[in-house]
Amino acid sequence: SIVYLNGEYMPMSEAKISPMDRGFLFGDGIYEVIPSYDGKLVGFAPHIERMDQGLSFIDIELDYSIDTWRDICETLIEKNGGGNQGIYLHVSRGTDSKRFHAYPDNIAPTVYAFSFEIAPAPKPEKGTVKQYKVSSTQDLRWKRCNIKSTALLGNVMHFQQGYEAGNNEIILYNANDEMTEGSACNAYIVKDGTVITPPLDHQILPGITRLMLLDILRKDGSIKVEERAVTMDEVRNADEIWLTSSSKEIAPVVELDGTPVGDGKVGDVWEQAQRLYSAGKY
Ligand code: PDD
Repeated sequence: SIVYLNGEYMPMSEAKISPMDRGFLFGDGIYEVIPSYDGKLVGFAPHIERMDQGLSFIDIELDYSIDTWRDICETLIEKNGGGNQGIYLHVSRGTDSKRFHAYPDNIAPTVYAFSFEIAPAPKPEKGTVKQYKVSSTQDLRWKRCNIKSTALLGNVMHFQQGYEAGNNEIILYNANDEMTEGSACNAYIVKDGTVITPPLDHQILPGITRLMLLDILRKDGSIKVEERAVTMDEVRNADEIWLTSSSKEIAPVVELDGTPVGDGKVGDVWEQAQRLYSAGKY
């Protein structure tokens, strides 16, 4: 495939960066994943806004405009054959000649982007959607989970734990036994027709799928939405559990720690929400 590295397009096999890059040595960088279906990017502006925020949180100065990013994303989609592609954007602080923790003054950020094929967006049909089975465990990541850092070891270790247990994801909870999010997605429960998800704070990533979904549900008004702390007790007694991310949209969870969620089938509220999301995503 064709990738983008520091202003140039090239085959992936030719993209090279220094092992002294701070992204490699420290995980010192910010990333984004933006979905596109039939060549059309979803949530593009909020994705770029989140990346700009992440860069400013960690004091990386990069002079890429939103138009530059759009051009990179559209060029990658086109050069890699269109269809359904996720675009991965990665900005590290750059390459230094020494390994010293403090931010160096005069290095240029490394900018890397590639695209990868993603599954078609789910159809709002209970019969065809992928059903997720998840584990749960205490969230052992850091206290800045709102930053989309490339340092993902905590997420990777949690995901692996769920994966080794034969599950597709893992739901995390804090020391107060409140759900935070999944290892690579946001998490929700449905109880008596109301969708409930934890509020935005340092414990979770402000997902763009979450942003669009809550916006669409509130504008439609047929499903009630609450942003508040959700205890694991509530999660275990939920009628439905959902996960959202750019690469899966709304994913219904039918099993948690080996126990069926609700009646163990994909729920009605999921179907309605995915229908609204499919029609309303931007
Ligand atoms: N993951 N929470 C975490 C920890 C995530 O890694 C992600 C996304 C989300 C959902 O955010 P969004 O709706 O903006 O994709 C929540 C991406 C897809 C990844 O790391 O591959």
